Amino acid sequence: MLWTPHSAVWTAAGGTLLTSTDHHYREGLAELSLGPGFFRPESRPARDLSVLLARYQSIHAMRSLRWLDLMAGCGIRALRWGLEALVNPSIETVLWINDGDPDRLPLIQANVQGLGCATRLTADAADRLLHRAIVERHWFDFIDLDAFGAPGGLIQPALQALRFDGLLFLASTDGRSPTGHDRVGAIRSLGAAARAHPSSWEMALRQQIGLVARQAWMLGRGLEPLFSFSEGRTFRLALRLRRQIPAGDEQKLGLVARCERCGAQRVQPLLKLSGWPACHCTDGQGRWSISGPLWIGALQEAPLLQQLIADAQQLGRQQISPSTLRLLQRLQADPGACPTVWSTDELARRLGIGGPPALGQLVQALQAEGYCGSASGVMPGQVRTDAELPQLLQICTSLRVEGI
Ligand SMILES: C[S@@+](CC[C@H](N)C(=O)[O-])C[C@H]1O[C@@H](n2cnc3c(N)ncnc32)[C@H](O)[C@@H]1O
Ligand SMILES: [Zn+2]
Repeated sequence: MLWTPHSAVWTAAGGTLLTSTDHHYREGLAELSLGPGFFRPESRPARDLSVLLARYQSIHAMRSLRWLDLMAGCGIRALRWGLEALVNPSIETVLWINDGDPDRLPLIQANVQGLGCATRLTADAADRLLHRAIVERHWFDFIDLDAFGAPGGLIQPALQALRFDGLLFLASTDGRSPTGHDRVGAIRSLGAAARAHPSSWEMALRQQIGLVARQAWMLGRGLEPLFSFSEGRTFRLALRLRRQIPAGDEQKLGLVARCERCGAQRVQPLLKLSGWPACHCTDGQGRWSISGPLWIGALQEAPLLQQLIADAQQLGRQQISPSTLRLLQRLQADPGACPTVWSTDELARRLGIGGPPALGQLVQALQAEGYCGSASGVMPGQVRTDAELPQLLQICTSLRVEGI
């Protein structure tokens, strides 16, 4: 869908509209006009992370780079790349800035004109641009694909247009299908079953990674998730394309089952799929709701996040906002290797107690019992653990008895 611009600018949470068409805006080291099209100040963490990723690539580059801001809007991401991410003057870097709406070009041009690096501006439909790049064998090192709706059909050409070890930063605003609220839509857009789950953002991210991984594998390429996050509206993934599929990665595609009645969860890799054991319903009447195939491997690459945190701290709060830094720290502390996550509200409800258990204490108690335990970095108020539900509930109960 090509979005039709109108004379309004989205502002802070709540979506109030400004009618100014020459709104001056500062973010990071950029100062620019937003123009009359779509812009969300609240997406700042995604833009900060795009800058950090590009900067990371620039620091480690051994040869010239080509970066593509495929759905640039007012051009803010590419402008920030040019001002904040080009840290290696010996590496020639070309910024390709594209938006399908030709009316945006003069604005983008005005915004990036002061940049001292090579830029290329186009107003192509994203699929055309990517397919042309593939035919002409012009690979990109970094593609930022900030789409409306589901990026579906663009994933395959975006992967094909990426250089090996290239980075893809992918957004999807389709939350209904991957969170199980549009089951038909999930079959169509993900080729997967999606069932409602209390950890809905996590499930949506896992569905999305699973989809991209299958598309990369079809090309004989590997895919590494670098980080994955959402605020419930947009689902964002940073991914690295690998020349080869890392050994054993096929085990990372699987099914997640949950019994809505007793809350039990089970995970199985597709490669070793066998029957589902009974859940914990004492009357034997429980039924598994199964989602997938989806990604059951880690969601975050902790060493990379550690590096990005150090970079963010070095750049300071003007360039990387405090909320972005907190997001990075949350994700780094919870790589998400174990896909079973429970909301602490659900645990309180199942125990019939007033308030949820304190997350920090619960994590400590789980670890003390020899289980994996972490506060979910993806969704607030959730605990990630490989403990089964009866053990998890028992640990919550003992915390209450101890009065913690
Ligand atoms: C979410 S906005 C981009 C916001 C921008 N990246 C930012 O950080 O502010 C999506 C942009 O994609 C453009 N667009 C939508 N569909 C497109 C398509 N098929 N090809 C190219 N551009 C498209 C729209 O004109 C819009 O400006
Ligand atoms: Zn059950």
